[in-house]
Amino acid sequence: MASVRFEAVSKVYGLDSKALSEFTLDVADGEFVVLVGPSGCGKSTTLRVLAGLEEATSGRVFIDNRDITDETPSKRDIAMVFQNYALYPHMTVFDNMAFSLKMRKLPKEEIQKLVAETADILGISDYLNRKPKELSGGQRQRVALGRAIVRHPKVFLFDEPLSNLDAKLRVQMRNELARLHTKLKATMIYVTHDQAEAMTLGDRIVVLKDGVIQQVAPPLEVYNNPCNKFVAGFIGSPSMNFFKSEVSGGKLAAISGSLELSGVTDGRYTMGIRPEDIIVNEQGQFMCTVEVVETLGNEKVVLGVTVSGEHLTARCKPDIDIHPGGELRFDIDVNQIHLFTVDGIENKI
Ligand SMILES: Nc1ncnc2c1ncn2[C@@H]1O[C@H](COP(=O)(O)OP(=O)(O)O)[C@@H](O)[C@H]1O
Ligand SMILES: [Mg+2]
Repeated sequence: MASVRFEAVSKVYGLDSKALSEFTLDVADGEFVVLVGPSGCGKSTTLRVLAGLEEATSGRVFIDNRDITDETPSKRDIAMVFQNYALYPHMTVFDNMAFSLKMRKLPKEEIQKLVAETADILGISDYLNRKPKELSGGQRQRVALGRAIVRHPKVFLFDEPLSNLDAKLRVQMRNELARLHTKLKATMIYVTHDQAEAMTLGDRIVVLKDGVIQQVAPPLEVYNNPCNKFVAGFIGSPSMNFFKSEVSGGKLAAISGSLELSGVTDGRYTMGIRPEDIIVNEQGQFMCTVEVVETLGNEKVVLGVTVSGEHLTARCKPDIDIHPGGELRFDIDVNQIHLFTVDGIENKI
């Protein structure tokens, strides 16, 4: 196990394709850090630079305070699990897991022991003699994990390892990964574009956009206190609602109503409010026309459009009597709103 440090790492592909910009991050020994962001924001590049599969254009990378920037991948003692787990099809599960140990010329008994231990942790002991094609997607992914775990690497890197699995299996494997981390207490850096995975797995989340870190914080901190409009909109499902708003003389005007708000400079802002913070109330001062009602069993998700022509998503109780074409009246608690500047950075105020 080990700590990891990225120090102002930038990566430019070709002449001017900047994938990563001044990326600085400390990952503590045993920490589970999740890098999250939309496709193309530089997540894989970050892992590949750490693993030594890509050279940083500038900046340094450290493992346990040792500068490994110029070290070959094999010396870094890092295990990486990808979305395409690429097991050797002609080898059994045992041989797939034992492969790297054999390459390291470990004694046979030790290989047996390490593979057996790891298979036990992952619940795949019964499949050791099977070939990959005789396994389900989830089992294959477990073997891929096993291949990484068996090496006892200093750092585990995961690049969207669950993306190929169906929704139910994803959630199951996600939980298993969380359990695994508790058990192994290993340093793990996990990449995903799925904000639910990021929220549930990470000790801390790193939100990336266009190769630039937006926010680094524990999941709830990111959720409750997103640093800018991008993070606010990216983390949370359904996404936070945004409305044009204006503050003037202690009042905030938005949608079709106004809220008392002190201590904010007069001016235009984007007001953010999460779908669960829309308080349905027949006498509410805010209003929208209902377009779609999604009945999910435990709740109804209502999509509407306000008189100001803005879209709204509300999470409502399952028994609410509401239909497309109808009207949804609601209140907003001023303590639940997020205000963002309307300039280029759209920072939270
Ligand atoms: N080998 C490469 N050559 C040129 N551009 C690349 C290469 N790999 C990635 N990129 C570009 O760098 C950016 C970041 O890519 P990547 O790290 O793969 O993003 P992510 O994993 O977040 O989807 C993207 O714009 C991508 O097109
Ligand atoms: Mg990627």
